[in-house]
Amino acid sequence: MSQIKACGLDFGTSNSTLAVYTDGKPELLKLEDGKSTVPSATFFGQEKDNTFLVGRAAVSAYVDGAPGRLMRSLKSILGNSLLQERTPVFRRKISFAEIIGQYLKELKHRAEQQTGEELTQVVMGRPVQFVDNDEAANVLAEKNLSDIAKSIGFKDVSFQFEPVAAALEFERQLTTEKLALIADLGGGTSDFSIIRLGGQHKQKVLANTGVRVGGTDFDRALSIAKFMPSFGYHSLQKTSGLEFPVAPFLDLSTWSSIHNLYEPKFMTLLKALRFDAQQPHLLERFIYIVNERRCHSLLMDVENVKMQLSDTEQAEANLNWVEKNLRVQVTSAQFETSASSLFAQLQMSITKCLSDAGISADRIDVLFFTGGTSLIPAVRRKIAHNFPHVEIVNGDQFGAVGMGLGLEAHNRYG
Ligand SMILES: Nc1ncnc2c1ncn2[C@@H]1O[C@H](COP(=O)(O)OP(=O)(O)OP(=O)(O)O)[C@@H](O)[C@H]1O
Ligand SMILES: [Mg+2]
Repeated sequence: MSQIKACGLDFGTSNSTLAVYTDGKPELLKLEDGKSTVPSATFFGQEKDNTFLVGRAAVSAYVDGAPGRLMRSLKSILGNSLLQERTPVFRRKISFAEIIGQYLKELKHRAEQQTGEELTQVVMGRPVQFVDNDEAANVLAEKNLSDIAKSIGFKDVSFQFEPVAAALEFERQLTTEKLALIADLGGGTSDFSIIRLGGQHKQKVLANTGVRVGGTDFDRALSIAKFMPSFGYHSLQKTSGLEFPVAPFLDLSTWSSIHNLYEPKFMTLLKALRFDAQQPHLLERFIYIVNERRCHSLLMDVENVKMQLSDTEQAEANLNWVEKNLRVQVTSAQFETSASSLFAQLQMSITKCLSDAGISADRIDVLFFTGGTSLIPAVRRKIAHNFPHVEIVNGDQFGAVGMGLGLEAHNRYG
């Protein structure tokens, strides 16, 4: 692998990949334990041993109970002011932007160990919308990501829409021209592109739309509907008759907000709520998992139930670790109901994509799915419902975008 200076980098909300172009094709580098995906997670351990871990190792350290701080879903704050906010790590404070930089730097370093060359040029993936319908925030998010990439040593940094990258990868298997709808359904965003591919001429993108709905939103919806009632949500009223505040339950159900719960002032609030609660034992559970720093574990259990429901009609989370005999059972119908507003948002984005392209659904030849959320049967079914006679292709859920970016890096930088 000599002379490789360019790469494609798919920094995902949940998983990241890096691809280079070698032997006439893109290739995902194996960045962790022989696997090409690296969970977009960081773990800062104790100051004295200066532990900094990424990916599966970061998640495992947390699950094993190592003292320290796990962070996931960092991509989702690229477009907001939180990015420059400083957060305590190793008894000092560093910005979330720096944390993303450290994560990506580790990926770059591992890739360079394999290629044997410094990687100086990168095509990064970006969602069509980092932030829904806010052009200024989208421009800022891309600039923030570009600045981070430059801060870790990339000299040339450019971007490609994630669904367009997936389309370039899909095109490698086509022998005839097709009008494709690419659906990239990830952890934080869902993107759609209508694109003409596989013909004699260069690809023609007819429309791109995106919405900030992804697997983490499905996690949140499921958590709020089926898990939070066991931790005091809804089932409790303050004795004063006022509703309980919603924010703590949203934070506990949102990967990128969990850290809010570990601020000391939050424990004061929880204890005050418990004092007012009609069923204080439900709040005790909440207090327990905050005290034990196990809030991510609960959301991992939620995510696991969601993933199981992609294969079975019913799934159960065993929350014995919170309280003896505490279990949450969910059917796929209940999961679908919890996510109904998310389905509606996906539908609106598809409708807009067709309308922006100025074509009717029956003109689409092929529907290409990628992204982990495309593994949810109801998501595939509801999207496919728009295109009754279309050919459906399931791409590599976790690799297609990265591969396309690797191809694009070669096209742009050679
Ligand atoms: N079997 C499964 N069933 C349902 N969802 C799944 C399954 N496997 C993974 N997921 C979900 O897929 C999501 C991650 O998908 P992916 O890796 O494509 O996202 P990403 O590229 O990191 O995010 P984005 O592109 O939005 O920034 C997670 O929310 C995860 O829970
Ligand atoms: Mg993605």
